Amino acid sequence: MKTSRIKRIAINTGGGDAPGLNAVIRAVTIAALNRGWEVLGIRDGLNGIFLPHLYPDGGVVPLTRERVRGITHLGGTILGTTNKGNPLKHPTQRKDGTWYEKDRSDEVVRAFKTMKIDALVAIGGDGSLTIAHALAEKGLRVVGVPKTIDNDLDKTVVTFGFDTAVSFATACIDRLHSTAESHQRVMVVEVMGRYAGWIALNSGVSSSADVILIPEIPYDLQKVAEKIKEREKEGSKFTIIVVAEGAKPKGGTASVVSKELGRAERLGGVGERVANEIQQLTGKETRCVVLGHLLRGGTPTTFDRLVSLRFGAAAVRALEQGKSNVMVALDPPTVRYVPLEQVTGRMKAVPLDCDTILSARDLGISFGD
Ligand code: F6P
Repeated sequence: MKTSRIKRIAINTGGGDAPGLNAVIRAVTIAALNRGWEVLGIRDGLNGIFLPHLYPDGGVVPLTRERVRGITHLGGTILGTTNKGNPLKHPTQRKDGTWYEKDRSDEVVRAFKTMKIDALVAIGGDGSLTIAHALAEKGLRVVGVPKTIDNDLDKTVVTFGFDTAVSFATACIDRLHSTAESHQRVMVVEVMGRYAGWIALNSGVSSSADVILIPEIPYDLQKVAEKIKEREKEGSKFTIIVVAEGAKPKGGTASVVSKELGRAERLGGVGERVANEIQQLTGKETRCVVLGHLLRGGTPTTFDRLVSLRFGAAAVRALEQGKSNVMVALDPPTVRYVPLEQVTGRMKAVPLDCDTILSARDLGISFGD
C-alpha cells in the first residue's frame, strides 16, 4: 500500500450520467481541499487527460470551492462524461485500413505522472471502474465510487442515481394508469436496465404495474396475453406492462440497436416489440412509452444526494488512509471499502428469490414466465 503524502488529486466521471454525480464531485473537492490537497477535474471521462489535443482550452480543470458551490442538487456532471474513449479499448486503425481495440492505459498512467497527480477518484459504473482498476494495477493510486441508475454493480447495497431513476419511473407509471384506464388500453413502459431489471422491478411494484419483464426472467408473451385476458374477465379493461430495455423473450435475445467499436452495444426497441405482439395476441389497443434518458436526468432525491456526498467524502478518507484499488460501497448503516477486483467484470442481477420478486408474485404481478 502506498502511503506517500498526497498533494494533488483528480476526479473523473465516466459512462452514462446519473443524478448525484455533482454531489460526489462537490464532496470529494471540499473534503480534499480541507486537507490542503489540490483538486483537478478531468473532462469527459478520461478523455481530458488521455486525448488532450481535443481540449485546446484544457482537458483538466482546477476544482475550487467556488466551482463546486451550489451543485449538489444538479443532475448531470459539471465535468462531462462519455461512453466512448475507453483507453483499454481505444479504436485504432491498422495500416490496411481495418480497425481494432488497442490498450493505451500506459499512456494514461504516464499522463498522470507528468501532471504530478498523486491519486484519482474515479466515479463510474462497471466500465469506468474496470478502467480504474487497470490504472491502479499499473501503480496509480485509485479509489472508485459506484454510479449507475441501473444499480447493477456488485458489492454495494446500492449505487447512487438508482433511487432518483426509480422515483421518476414510478411517478410516470402512476400517470399512465389513468390514461390506460380511460382508454381501456394496454400501456407498455420501457425503462433502462441493460443487464439487470432493478429499475423495472422496483418502479413496477411501487406503481402497481400488472406485468414486469426483466432481463433475469425471459418472457413468454402468451403468458402476458393470458394475464391481460384474465384481467378483462375480472373487469379490469386496461393493463400496465413495465419492461426493462434488456428484457428478452424465452430462447431469444435482447433488442440491440447498434454495436460500435470501443463501446458497449446500444439497446432499445423491446417496448415496441412487446406492444406490437401483445396487440396481435389480445386484439387490444396497445401503446408504448419509452422513458429512456429521462431516467438519467433531474435533481437527485434526498437519498441519492446523501449517499453521493457520503461516498465522495469516504473516497477522500480512503486516500488519506493510504487505500488504493478499492471502491466505496454502501453497507448500511455505514460505508466500507471493497477491492476493485471483487467488483469489476461482474454484475448484480436481481436474485430470482429476492423478497421483492416474491412479494410481486404474491400481489399478482406477472413476470411473463
Ligand atoms: O447507465 C446505464 C444505462 O442507463 C443503461 O441502462 C443504458 O443501456 C445505457 O446507460 C445507455 O447509455 P447511452 O446513453 O450511452 O446510450
